[in-house]
Amino acid sequence: MTPKYPSESLTILTDLVLPSETNALNNLFGGELLARMDRAASISAGRHSRHISVTASVNHVAFNKSIALGSVVIIEAKVSRAFKTSMEIYIDVWNEDRESGERTKANEAIYTFVAVDENGKPVEVPQIIPQTKLEKHRYDDALRRKQLSLLLAGKMKPEEATELKALFV
Ligand SMILES: CC(C)(COP(=O)(O)OP(=O)(O)OC[C@H]1O[C@@H](n2cnc3c(N)ncnc32)[C@H](O)[C@@H]1OP(=O)(O)O)[C@@H](O)C(=O)NCCC(=O)NCCS
Repeated sequence: MTPKYPSESLTILTDLVLPSETNALNNLFGGELLARMDRAASISAGRHSRHISVTASVNHVAFNKSIALGSVVIIEAKVSRAFKTSMEIYIDVWNEDRESGERTKANEAIYTFVAVDENGKPVEVPQIIPQTKLEKHRYDDALRRKQLSLLLAGKMKPEEATELKALFV
């Protein structure tokens, strides 16, 4: 299978924050952002694998800054690393000022998707060749995050998590 570049799966969702999507402080509701990120990640995983791709795990979400009603929210998702059938999708969320156009980083998240066939059975995906410094950094750390996610899900034994152990030795 021919490897792909992260840029080939880049997916950008740009949308407004509407009143029905906010909390009591008139900021974007966390669950709404999770859903938007899931949608962007799903498209990104599909672009990389060219298969149906399902969410296997939400590995990390940081709601660092609130996003106010009326804001323009830009969600950028791309595959940071592909394993056998799973893909790590790294998501950056930006808040665009309507007047100046200036963008500030609001949040980020990491999702794991698995490519499947019509019966929901996992299928192999192309590998990733990271290009930029940031892509290489995210690629290098992805195996550690996969092991942590599997460990927390009870799908990996602690002694098998070699990348995690290496952090403490
Ligand atoms: C995701 C799913 C396809 C995995 O199926 P499975 O039978 O566990 O398959 P496997 O054990 O072969 O795992 C497939 C891949 O997913 C990875 N994986 C599974 N669970 C994971 C987790 N919690 N974190 C990270 N990776 C995970 C495995 O490591 C494996 O990766 P690899 O092939 O790249 O090495 C299956 O659990 C599923 O269909 N889940 C429901 C998905 C869904 O409906 N999502 C929407 C939420 S409502």
